Amino acid sequence: DVEEIVVIPGDGIGQEVVPAAQRVLSAVANVEFVEADAGDAVKAETGEALPQATYDLVSEADATLFGAAGETAADVILPLREAVDSFVNVRPARAYPGVDALRPETDLVFLRENTEGVYSGHEDRLSEDLSTLTRVVTTSASERLAEYACDYVQDRDGGFHVAHKANVMRETDGRFRDAVVSVADSRGVETEEVLMDAFATRICLDPTQFDVVVCPNLAGDVLSDLAAGLVGGLGLLPSANVGTERALFEPVHGTAPDIAGQGVANPSATIVSAAMLLEYLGYDDEGQAVRDAVESVLADGPRTPDLGGEATTAGVTEAVLARLD
Ligand code: NAI
Ligand code: MG
Repeated sequence: DVEEIVVIPGDGIGQEVVPAAQRVLSAVANVEFVEADAGDAVKAETGEALPQATYDLVSEADATLFGAAGETAADVILPLREAVDSFVNVRPARAYPGVDALRPETDLVFLRENTEGVYSGHEDRLSEDLSTLTRVVTTSASERLAEYACDYVQDRDGGFHVAHKANVMRETDGRFRDAVVSVADSRGVETEEVLMDAFATRICLDPTQFDVVVCPNLAGDVLSDLAAGLVGGLGLLPSANVGTERALFEPVHGTAPDIAGQGVANPSATIVSAAMLLEYLGYDDEGQAVRDAVESVLADGPRTPDLGGEATTAGVTEAVLARLD
């Protein structure tokens, strides 16, 4: 069987790291790529950051690999997440042996609510002096996230943390917390609550306290970037936007305009995102093989400049391909 995968390189280093991940995917699985456009470049050409044709492809594909978009990021990624009906953003943050990290013992996964909170687009300018934002939290979205979290921790020992700020945002985060905890209780999964600001301190002091962390949308965005800092930078963090029937995989990083076009972007985040894609499609062994190859290259080199090395994107990709054999 051939797996059809939609690929959207996008802008900047997306054009460099997505082709790198495609080479790795082709090496381990029988895949066919359907290329689609999104981002600043296609907007400059056509006036639209996310062409309807791209949206349609993503909303029908089992899996999509996306690089990054520049200034149009919000106009691209928010509708793309909607195209896959993604209710959870899975963001693993782990340090790798051989990579200089502030906290080398970090190894956790954020399960971030992906549809509402303060990112639901309800912002208003009420006067010259006043702007407001409506924070949206539904029991149904919170429960859907909690069900996913319960499935996610099934083959790990232990339950998960729920990060929130329900002591202040009593209604919205209270609803979120109550819904998540009640689903977990009914499934027999243990939960521990942590206030999101306290979480920020605790993860810096000792990240080993956490394994799986369920968060509202904004908290998950910010706290996972914080974790990226603990493990050695954005070039390493993959992510998955998972829906009920399809999913979209992307590195956490953006277009890196400071290094774009030089051929030195770290492809690891995108290659590990591709490993998550393989696992999502049921290719567990292939996904693991890709993870092992990336880990081995990160341990021994070659490394790109963001990790203190001198290698190019192509050099690192070839090293990963060589370790797959
Ligand atoms: P960024 O992630 O693009 O870059 C931040 C820093 O990390 C830069 O110094 C960059 O060189 C470095 N970096 C990131 N990925 C790297 C990699 N793979 N290898 C080596 N170094 C890497 O974030 P920034 O600078 O805040 O945003 C740049 C552009 O990207 C903006 O236009 C922003 O809108 C867009 N963006 C898009 C996202 C998306 O499409 N999902 C996500 C984040 C930002
Ligand atoms: Mg972010």
